[in-house]
Amino acid sequence: MSSINFQVPVIAHRGASRYAPENTLSAFFKAKQLGAQWVEFDVMLSACGEAVVIHDETLNRTTNGNGIVGDYPYSYLRTLDAGAWFNAKFSGEKIPTFKDVILCLQEHQLAANVEIKPLPGQEEQTAKKVLADIRDYWTVDMMPPLLSSFSVPSLRTVRQNSPDALIGLLIDEWFGGWEEVCDQLQCVSVHLNQRILDENVVRHIKAMNRFVLSYTVNDPHRAKELFGWGVDAVFSDDLVAVLAALGRSSF
Ligand code: G3P
Ligand code: MG
Repeated sequence: MSSINFQVPVIAHRGASRYAPENTLSAFFKAKQLGAQWVEFDVMLSACGEAVVIHDETLNRTTNGNGIVGDYPYSYLRTLDAGAWFNAKFSGEKIPTFKDVILCLQEHQLAANVEIKPLPGQEEQTAKKVLADIRDYWTVDMMPPLLSSFSVPSLRTVRQNSPDALIGLLIDEWFGGWEEVCDQLQCVSVHLNQRILDENVVRHIKAMNRFVLSYTVNDPHRAKELFGWGVDAVFSDDLVAVLAALGRSSF
């Protein structure tokens, strides 16, 4: 396995998204304050080709805008409010660019799982932009990024262009040939929806010498069960509750 580790085995899903608006700089800063080692976030392309950090394909849920993220250039997206929907005290928060987030990770010494979330038809282009931003802004003092995606074409693009990239395969529902994909892409980890996990699956993936990560785990009892099976880390919106269940205090 690679040198990556999950000493703090709870990954702040979209940042500390129970405590700050998801996928914003505030959410990543909050994750650090609460004791996270790792954060996860989602990257897609705006109309001008800028990589932006947002989960949904549409702006409606997490901003004061409407419509498809990829229909707008970043010059427009940056004018939207990505915090007020969560709590008025976060009004003025912006949709960050991937570059903004990389700088934030560096400042706060956070490790990151970068989830490549291409809009339909942009699988290759999104992966290439993620790699270009990593090349341009990710510094050697930072923990190398763990790149994941549900999109196998995006991950193939990563592997073709970056022989050393750390890749994690995201699986929401089982699909035939996932083990071959894992081998071909030389994945270091498999990131599974907790609903499809059982003890045998965890044992199988550990025998493949891959880290097993599971999302999204907000129930402390479920987290304990998963860790009991050998899961290496869980993605959680609520770092505080899940760390507490493990007998580890957040800050
Ligand atoms: O990367 C784990 C998890 O974030 C995958 O699902 O929809 O929350 O991006 P989603
Ligand atoms: Mg995600």
